[in-house]
Amino acid sequence: MLKIDLTGKNILVTGASGGIGAAIAKTMAACGARIGLHYFQNEERAKEIQKAIDNNSELYRADLADHTQIAGLFNEVVNDFGQLHVIINNAGISLESDPAGDDMKYLNDWHKTMEVNLNATGYLCKLAVAHFIEKGGGKIVNISSRAAFRGDTKEYLAYAASKGGIISLTRSIARAYGKLGIVAFNIAPGFVRTDMAKDFIKNYGDEFVSNDLALDRLTEPDDIAPMVAFLASGMADHATGCTIDINAGSYVH
Ligand SMILES: NC(=O)c1ccc[n+]([C@@H]2O[C@H](COP(=O)([O-])OP(=O)(O)OC[C@H]3O[C@@H](n4cnc5c(N)ncnc54)[C@H](OP(=O)(O)O)[C@@H]3O)[C@@H](O)[C@H]2O)c1
Repeated sequence: MLKIDLTGKNILVTGASGGIGAAIAKTMAACGARIGLHYFQNEERAKEIQKAIDNNSELYRADLADHTQIAGLFNEVVNDFGQLHVIINNAGISLESDPAGDDMKYLNDWHKTMEVNLNATGYLCKLAVAHFIEKGGGKIVNISSRAAFRGDTKEYLAYAASKGGIISLTRSIARAYGKLGIVAFNIAPGFVRTDMAKDFIKNYGDEFVSNDLALDRLTEPDDIAPMVAFLASGMADHATGCTIDINAGSYVH
């Protein structure tokens, strides 16, 4: 029987207080991993998840828009866990910003999106790569988006661009550090039923979203999590650099 066994693995999940991050954390804990649960504002939800998974998981608060907090977060996790085996860069934002609107709002939204989605991921990958080299290897799973390939609607240009950056970042890490035991993967979800998607669905309606799908229901966070656990397990190391689309057949390329 094929079993995903993460026993003895220490794994940091950013944005574990959110819809997809919580499902990833719970699934990997159920596979035996010890989880570092990162959150920003939703401490209550993060505590609920910690309680639900137990497994000696730890909570970490950090604003990923602030690079000093990113270094603090990573060092704290390494201090507590001794060794980190896997990092899941999942935290993200999608700010609605009309390109026909005010320039300053557009620029502020653009910079904020890049800070949280791309710059923080890039910095956490840098810190993780250094740690993994020291420890003889490690795995990175970055949560990108279908938008990186298909493009997005006009209000989410920055979001799509930030997710495109994650794809090439991950591919470059995979190619540059494979011989040092580091593997890196992208996950590219389509719409997933979480708070983030709610705003979009509110704007564009259920039909706009469901008409796109090949399957008969919207993707749930639990449809994403098992693939992340599988990539973290080591069974897929020779797929390093790849992107796994999980979009209910809404964009096949
Ligand atoms: N839902 C979708 O349709 C969809 C589709 C494609 C890709 N994705 C990607 O999947 C990932 C997870 O999204 P989700 O749908 O689970 O969204 P979500 O439920 O809104 O969760 C977002 C997470 O990111 C954290 N976060 C937000 N701003 C932050 C900041 N400044 N610093 C640190 N953490 C911050 C949130 O923490 P707090 O709540 O604690 O503040 C939360 O844990 C994101 O990268 C998203 O782009 C989602």
